[in-house]
Amino acid sequence: MKKQVLTGIKPTGRIHLGNYIGAIKPALGLAENQSYNTAYFVADYHGLTKIHDPIEMKELSYGVAAAWLALGLNPDSAIFYRQSDVPEIFELSWILSCFAPKGLLNRSHAYKSMVEENKESGRNVDAGVNMGLFTYPILMAADILLFQTELVPVGKDQIQHVEIARDIAESFNNQYGETFVIPEYVIQEETAVLPGLDGRKMSKSYNNTIPLFEEPKKLQKLINKIKTDSSLPEEPKDPDDSIIFGLYKEFATTDQSEKMRRRFQQGIGWGEAKKELFDVMNSFIEVPRSEYEDLLNNWDRLDAILLNGATKARKKTIPFMKEIKRKIGLYH
Ligand code: ADP
Ligand code: TRP
Repeated sequence: MKKQVLTGIKPTGRIHLGNYIGAIKPALGLAENQSYNTAYFVADYHGLTKIHDPIEMKELSYGVAAAWLALGLNPDSAIFYRQSDVPEIFELSWILSCFAPKGLLNRSHAYKSMVEENKESGRNVDAGVNMGLFTYPILMAADILLFQTELVPVGKDQIQHVEIARDIAESFNNQYGETFVIPEYVIQEETAVLPGLDGRKMSKSYNNTIPLFEEPKKLQKLINKIKTDSSLPEEPKDPDDSIIFGLYKEFATTDQSEKMRRRFQQGIGWGEAKKELFDVMNSFIEVPRSEYEDLLNNWDRLDAILLNGATKARKKTIPFMKEIKRKIGLYH
C-alpha cells in the first residue's frame, strides 16, 4: 500500500518564500515519488477565519491554486482540490469536535497568541476571536484524517496542529475501534522556520514576507531589506548562520551552494551576497512566474482543475464517511 501524503495552504495572503520552502517544495518532492499518494489543497474555509472580503477571498484562493500548479504540481498524479468542494470534510469536522476536549483547543497556539495579545493591550481576552479560529485545529484534523493520511509535510509552526489531529484520532479509535490512521508531520529540519525581513518568522500575518512570484525589481528591493550584521566584506561569515545563504541554497544547485559556502567562509560583502541570491532566485522563478500569471488570468481553467480534483477526492471521502457514520451508530 502506498503511503498517503496530504497538505494544505490557506488563502490568507500571497505565497511567500516561507510557504514555498516550508511546505510546497517538500510536498512537490513527495509528489514525484512513486511510493506515495498525494493530496494537496487550498484550505479556503481555514482562510475564512480571517478573510471576510469576497473579492479578496477569490483572488487569494486562485492565487494559492495557481502557485501550486506553476511550481510544478501535476494534477493528474496528485489529487488537487479546494477544501470547500469536499463537503465530507465538514461533516467529519463536526464529528471530531465531539471528541476534541475544549482544554486542548485552549492551548492551540493561534488562539492562545490572540488571547495573549488581547491581554497585553488590556482588551477582553476573546476580542476578535471567532469560533472558526478557536476550532481551526479540528477542521485541520478532519482534512488530515478523512484521507487516512500518514505524512503531513508542513512548516514547524504546524506541528502542534498535527499533534492535535493525532490526539483526536486516538480518542476516536479508542471509542470505536481502529478507524483513523495516526498521522505524522514531516519537517524540513535545516529550514524549519524561515525568518522574515524583520527577523521574526516570515508570515503573512506579520507583513514581513518576500512573495515568491514578486516581479524582479521588487524582489531585488526586498532581498536588499533582509537584515544582516555589520561585519565587513572581508570578514569570514558563518554560512549556516545566515538567512542569505539559507535562501541561496534552496534555489541553487549543490555545486553553486558549495562555492557560495566557501565564499562566505572566505569573506563576502553582504551586498554582493544579496546580488547572488537575487540572481539565483530570479532565474529559478522566471518560468513559474509567467505560468503563475497566465493561470491567474484564467480562473475557469483553475476551476476545472480543482473541481476535477474534488471529484477524485470524493471517490475516497464519500465511502469512508459512510463507514465512519456507521461506526458511530447513525445507521446499521
Ligand atoms: P502564514 O504564516 O504566512 O500565514 P501559513 O500558515 O498559511 O503561512 O502556512 C502555509 C504553510 O507554509 C504551512 O505548512 C507553514 O508551516 C509553512 N510556513 C509558513 N511560514 C513559514 C516559514 N516562515 N518558514 C517555514 N515554513 C513556513
Ligand atoms: N493550517 C495550515 C496552515 O496554516 C493549513 C492547513 C489546513 C493544513 N489544513 C491542513 C496543512 C491539513 C496540512 C494539513 O498552514
